[in-house]
Amino acid sequence: CSVVVLISGSGSNLQALLNHFQDNESVTISAVISNKADAFGLQRAARAGVPTQVLSHRDYSDRLAFDQALIQVIDQYQPDLVVLAGFMRILTPEFTQHYQQRLMNIHPSLLPKYKGLDTHQRVLEAGDTEHGCSVHFVTEHLDGGPVIIQASIAIEADDNVDSLAQKIHQLEHQIYPLAVQWFAEGRLQLANNTVVLDGHVL
Ligand code: GRF
Repeated sequence: CSVVVLISGSGSNLQALLNHFQDNESVTISAVISNKADAFGLQRAARAGVPTQVLSHRDYSDRLAFDQALIQVIDQYQPDLVVLAGFMRILTPEFTQHYQQRLMNIHPSLLPKYKGLDTHQRVLEAGDTEHGCSVHFVTEHLDGGPVIIQASIAIEADDNVDSLAQKIHQLEHQIYPLAVQWFAEGRLQLANNTVVLDGHVL
């Protein structure tokens, strides 16, 4: 299974994937692509011997032109799966349709709650008692595609944005490799907008 990972920043989820699949012959991380030249994740990829490319959205006149160029770059690697790991761009329907059923994202909330940015802050403001993260298939709806796996924690009285960010990142690093592995093993599909794992509708 060839996997292309898209990042914009630190790439700690990318690192979790690199670690998880380093001795796994059935999953190859074929390339890491960033829209930011200074994304630290590019160094993580290089250290792991994975090819990297930078495609700056600033070099394109509009969202569609960038997404079309991005498709060209990604498809050089003929991926079976495209993984968004902190890729901070809103994608056009042209892009999401091109990778229909083979595009995943991880989001730091218990979807469908708290789509979009600043999830930890919003969870605290709402006084929630639990928080978590979700891996989902990507559709044209931002953070709205069918959920594959979630992990959650109880919120403690002394939690703040930083402590939650740290705790949620740790959970993310556990569940993202799992979802990618299921997909690579052919156990996980998106069919008629529902997630099927081992033949069961989730
Ligand atoms: C994660 O919190 C992920 O849920 C969100 O972006 C962040 C990426 O972190 N989509 P990292 O770059 O993998 O460390």
